[in-house]
Amino acid sequence: MEATTKGGESKEQVKELSFSMYHWGPLLFKTKVKKEDLEALKIICKESTENWSENLAGIIDDEMKIDSGKYTKIITPYLKAYKQAYFNWYGLELKAVEITAAWVNYMKSGESNPPHIHHNCHLSSTLITEMPDEIRQEQKDWKGTGEGPAALSFFMGNPQNFHTNSFAFQAEPGDFFIFPWNLTHSVSTFKSNVVRSSVAANFMIKDNNIFEKKKENGKDKA
Ligand SMILES: [Fe+2]
Repeated sequence: MEATTKGGESKEQVKELSFSMYHWGPLLFKTKVKKEDLEALKIICKESTENWSENLAGIIDDEMKIDSGKYTKIITPYLKAYKQAYFNWYGLELKAVEITAAWVNYMKSGESNPPHIHHNCHLSSTLITEMPDEIRQEQKDWKGTGEGPAALSFFMGNPQNFHTNSFAFQAEPGDFFIFPWNLTHSVSTFKSNVVRSSVAANFMIKDNNIFEKKKENGKDKA
């Protein structure tokens, strides 16, 4: 079976039969950051001194602003992959994105990130930097439904028949997600006395895009 995807249309072939599927909704992108890049990122996080919590929804004491220039240098290769995904999903070329803020979340036992979206940006992201074994064990021991402790969840609207409206992950170090600013997401709490860390960043798309109306002579233009 061979699959090609372009502009929200995915074409596949099973024996002599071919069919198309049409992508809807937000592009949720995930890639894996290399070990050396992850280590470099942790060093940048250690240099952070400014608490960023008052700008954020997290029920987390230590959310620290990090150097967005240094962060951008590390993640630039991965943004190239995102641009490819963006083209495949939306059928649009993404020429330039600019980071607006980056911060590290040091999530401890009992802390969580309630369902939220990110304002004043087009895209947001999260990159898992540390997920201690104690949390992995909590997830293995989890008897309930869903992805359990420290789960990273994305969802939109209410569940409807024959719709996919959520994705949840037991994310690992190096997992890097990029998604539209208005895609609701959350991180569940955990009980172990350890620290789960992740780096979040917001981006503006610099080129014109079809998702925003342009103002011309003070009037809205579609
Ligand atoms: Fe977030």
